[in-house]
Formats: sequence, C-alpha cells, structure tokens
Amino acid sequence: MPENEPTAPSLENLLHETRAFPPSAAFAAQANAQPSMYEDAKADRLGFWADQARELVSWERPFTQTLDWSGAPVAKWFADGTLNAAYNAVDRHVEAGHGDRVAIHFEGEPGDTRTVTYADLQREVSRAANALAALGVTKGDRVVIYLPMLVESVVAMLACARIGAPHSVVFGGFSADALRSRIADAEAKVVVTADGGYRRGAPSALKPAVDAALAPKDGEPATTVEHVLVVRRTEQDVEWTEGRDVWWHEAVAAADDVHEPVWVDAEHPLFILYTSGTTGKPKGILHTTGGYLTQCASTHKNVFDLKAESDVYWCTADIGWVTGHSYVVYGPLTNGATQVLYEGTPDTPHRGRWWELVEKYQVSILYTAPTAIRTCMKWGEDIPAGFDLSSLRVLGSVGEPINPEAWMWYRRVVGGDTTPVVDTWWQTETGAIMISPLPGVTATKPGSAQVALPGIAADVVDDEAHSVPDGGGGYLVLSEPWPAMLRGIWGDLQRFKDTYWSRFEGLYFAGDGAKKDEDGDIWLLGRVDDVMNVSGHRLSTTEIESALVSHDIVAEAAVVGAADETTGQAVVAFVILRGEHAERAGTPDGAAQVQEELRSHVAKEIGPIAKPRRILVVAELPKTRSGKIMRRLLRDVAENRAVGDATTLADSSVMDLISAGLATNKPGSED
Ligand code: WT7
Repeated sequence: MPENEPTAPSLENLLHETRAFPPSAAFAAQANAQPSMYEDAKADRLGFWADQARELVSWERPFTQTLDWSGAPVAKWFADGTLNAAYNAVDRHVEAGHGDRVAIHFEGEPGDTRTVTYADLQREVSRAANALAALGVTKGDRVVIYLPMLVESVVAMLACARIGAPHSVVFGGFSADALRSRIADAEAKVVVTADGGYRRGAPSALKPAVDAALAPKDGEPATTVEHVLVVRRTEQDVEWTEGRDVWWHEAVAAADDVHEPVWVDAEHPLFILYTSGTTGKPKGILHTTGGYLTQCASTHKNVFDLKAESDVYWCTADIGWVTGHSYVVYGPLTNGATQVLYEGTPDTPHRGRWWELVEKYQVSILYTAPTAIRTCMKWGEDIPAGFDLSSLRVLGSVGEPINPEAWMWYRRVVGGDTTPVVDTWWQTETGAIMISPLPGVTATKPGSAQVALPGIAADVVDDEAHSVPDGGGGYLVLSEPWPAMLRGIWGDLQRFKDTYWSRFEGLYFAGDGAKKDEDGDIWLLGRVDDVMNVSGHRLSTTEIESALVSHDIVAEAAVVGAADETTGQAVVAFVILRGEHAERAGTPDGAAQVQEELRSHVAKEIGPIAKPRRILVVAELPKTRSGKIMRRLLRDVAENRAVGDATTLADSSVMDLISAGLATNKPGSED
C-alpha cells in the first residue's frame, strides 16, 4: 500500500450503483463528436491533432511539423507555425461576419448586467493591449492578473495574449503573501487588479492586497512591478501610489481601439498558472500557444457539443483556476461561443441564483464542480424546480471525483433526466480535458470519467508501471505527449522532470489513483500524493504545514485532507505548540483562541480557502523511524475511523495519546 492511498469510496460501492445511459438517437444524430474520431485518432494520432489544429485554429503562418518530442519531456507542437491567441478568440469571428454575436452575457452579483459582442470585445481587447503597451509591456514580459470575475478579467488576459506577454492569473481569494511570492517568481512587470468585487452581497477589497504584496520587505529584493492597472468596480476608496498606479478606465478608454496582434511562434508562452504541489512552494505551470489553443478548442467543441450559433454556454469556474483559462476564456472564445459570466456566489441574494441565470439566459451547456452540485443537493431540489431549466442539453463536471449520487441528481434534477452528463478529468498541467465521455457517442456512467479522448493516451498502472487489467487499480498515467501539455515549471526544469516524469520511466505521472472497471472504463479515486482537493481547489498539505509552523506558537504541524460530504475533502491540521501555549490550549477558551489565531494566520499566509476546518493540538505526531509523518494514521483520526496499522511508527504509543487528546479539541467554525 502506498503511504497516501486514495480516500475516495471503494470501486465496489461505486459500481454497485452503476447504470449506463446510452445517447439518445436524436442527440447522436446532431452531435459534433463521431465514433469515427476514436478510430481516426488511433490510426494516426498526430494526423488527428494536425487536422484539429488546422480546422479549429487560424494560423498566420501554417505549421508543417506536428510534434517534436526530441526534447522530451518538453514537447513542441506545431512549432514552425505562428499565430495569436487573442486574434483566434476574437478578431477572426468579427472578420467572419459574427461581430454582432454576443460573446459574454455578464451578470454582476448585485444584478447589474452587460452584453459584450465579439465586435465589442475586439475593441476592448485592442484598447487594453494598447494601454498595456503604453505602460511598457512588450512581448515576453509577464503580467500578473488579480481580479474578480469581470469582463475586464477576460479582456486583460486576451490583451496580454495579443501582445505576446504571458499572463499569470492569481485567484482573487489568495492572500497578499501568496500574491507576493507569485509576482516575485514570475518577475512580473505589471499587475492588473480592481478596487474589489461583489461577493456575498457586499463589496470585498482587492487593491489593498496588491499594495501589501508590493510593499518593500526586509531581506527581499525590490519588486519588478512598474505599474498597477486598477479596474474600478465597487467605488471603494483605495490607496494610490502616484506614478505606479493607473486607473483602467482612464488608460484603456484613452487608448486606440485598433491594435495589430503580435504574431508569435506556436511555442511562445501564453501563460503561467501557479498550482500547489507536494512541496511548500507553488509551481508555475507553463503553457504555450498553438497546442494549448488547439486542444482547448477541440475538447470544448466535442465534449460539450458546442454549436456556436445557437448554444449559450456557462462555465461557473473562476478565471483564477485553469478551468477558467481553458473553458471560460480560450476554448469557448476560440470557438466563437456565447457565454454567461457571473461575478458572485450561487446563494446571493438567494439559493436559486444559478438557476435563475440559466432560465434568464437560456443556458444550454453548464460546466461546474461536484462540490457545487452537492451543495445544491443539500439545499433541496425544490429550489431548481422553481425555474425553467429546459434549455439545458449538456452538463459537465470537473475538479474532483463526482460521486454517483451527485451525478444522478445533476442529471435528473438539473438535466430533466435527459441531458448527458460528462465527467471530465484533467489538471492544470494537462491544460485541457483528457478523459471524458463524448456526448452523443459514449454511453455515460454515473461516477466515471470513463475514456481517454481521441488522440489522448491514458492508462492505469501498478507500482512497476505495468498496465493493470480491467477490474484492477493503480496510478493514472499519460503515455503519449498531448498538445496542451505543460511545457515545464517556470524557471525550474529539474523540478518538472522530478515531479511528473521520474516515478515511471517515459510516463507522465498525474498524482491520481484510478481503477479500471470490467468495461475498461476509468474511475478516478483521488490524489495519491500530498495534494488535497477542497471544493475542487487544489491545496498542498506541506504548504499549509509551512504556513502553520511560520507562526511563533507552533513547533510542528501535520496537515491531512479528511473526507467531507460537501467539499470532497476538508483541511485538518495537527499541531504541536511551543511551551506555555500548549497549556493555554488545554482550556476550552484557550483552545478556541489558538484555533482562531492559527486559522487566520493560514488565511494571511495563503488565503481563506486554505484555512483548516479543524486544528487539533497534540503532544506528538506519528512518525516512522526515518522521521516521516504518517499522514495515513492522522487521516484515520480526522475521519473518526479506527486507526490503521501503526507498526512502523517509531513510538507506537503516540496514536493512543493523539486519540485520547482529541476530546479536548473542538472543531473550528465553518467558513
Ligand atoms: C486534480 C487537478 C481540471 C481543472 C480543475 C482542477 C482532480 C480534476 C477530476 C475528475 C476526479 C478530478 C484530480 C486532478 N480532478 N477533475 N473529473 N474526477 N478527479 O485542476 O487544480 O490542477 O487539480 O483535480 O485529482 O489531479 P487542478
């Protein structure tokens, strides 16, 4: 057994409930995806991707080479072609006569709306590109984007792409410290932010975090940031640094609305996106232009069956995560889709807000996360039942394993028992969807992501890298390069090789446990490394441990992801406190105080999403003789299970102590 075996429900339980839903004849007859795609891609994998690249992406200079894998594991796709991602996402639709088509139906949380056509988007993106250029941003410079879900967020990303400046979007829920380290690692020249955004019925602030992130700090080199471009959204007062800070509405409004896109090589960096890994320091995942755009467009078209002329598409992900990059910005816009962009939370001002938006905009394709579906299940099905959801025809899920109950609820309650549900597996690193049913082709199965897409090679292998037979379990690997694959970790090629390519010779190791059922369909079972998945957000146990031990009162910390009904996993921390603080935590008041201090400290170091649900003060941590923390045992405790095999512990009495000590610890409050 690996030290971190998957915690998801057993395959036997999952399979017990399995029923497959074959596509209806009507859906199959009009579907974008065709069964022949599997055969075509199997017969000529590179030919399949070259065709997708030519069909779905516009090239300034057509490519002649499809894949160059001689520098493995750094791939080059379509390397001698040149293109521009923003031109693909915007201009060519206008040139094709679709300038009046709505690109974005924006809905602010307070209820304000804005309709943006492709022609509007072209002018906005061009202005923003000119404004960035006027601030000195040129091809290759990095721009950090720290924004809520606004039209300007999409515009800012595309404006960067238009001038060949890789963007690095930092999720607005990350703290000033987290923002600071990402700005420093990417050596960004400009930060684009807002005064704030609307969340849960009130304005929340963003600019103060940027000011704090850029403030001089002893022992750290001066920031590389020359300008901060600030979108006004909430009219909050903001601190202003003359010469550095620039209002978006002034700079962008004043700029020319014509801008010639900068044509870049297919392998030119499009963006860096930081994600948590198994060590303390987040990894800057690097994506380039041609292959990424090709796979985003291809998967968006086929997995969601997008018909650009008639569909209204809505992906609920924030642009701060990869789903927002690939399936709010680059996939849908490259395909000329009409989409909904919503600023706020699903329960503001009421718990039917999402369904109200589906009804209002006649959304036909919805893409969201299992945690959201489970939350809606908890709120009760009479809420969605109060709205007309009959426009929906495809439902997607992403971010974590979807339990069959949630899958069935999604299909029945949201999809009127007729829509296909596609469970899509992929990662920040893969850039685009890798494993998913194809609606109209695949009979869908509740709880399983099922099959690798055409042109993708996925497998489940055992410890020795041997493919497991149907019915067997092991590790998910990708055995052939794919167009949207990461091209490395920003500034750290060695870490890229070590993290993904060293576990199994010649195979990409995804970090997920998986099984194959008797039909050969793949079931994802959760991470097998020190990465947690909380509400579809990726968090590192070691990163939160580092945050905890950076607090004066903490001597040692161990963090685990404990199974949680709604959020998939919840962060549970075990801490050893220094000296008198251990005694302080011994009283109920003191324990509550310590919990709160440490929870806010983690929020400050990383962000509120990383706050531990529970913090348990312990006298010892279970360690092997070589000093490695046995998280498996702590997870048993956190999930209120009998503690498993503890025979490899250096001191086997530790677990008794921990279990006994729990009575004095109370769970922390929910966020
Ligand atoms: C990890 C990647 C992909 C965009 C959102 C998350 C888990 C993702 C599924 C799924 C089971 C899934 C995996 C993966 N995951 N989709 N359909 N079924 N697990 O991107 O933050 O890079 O996280 O999310 O564990 O490794 P990410």
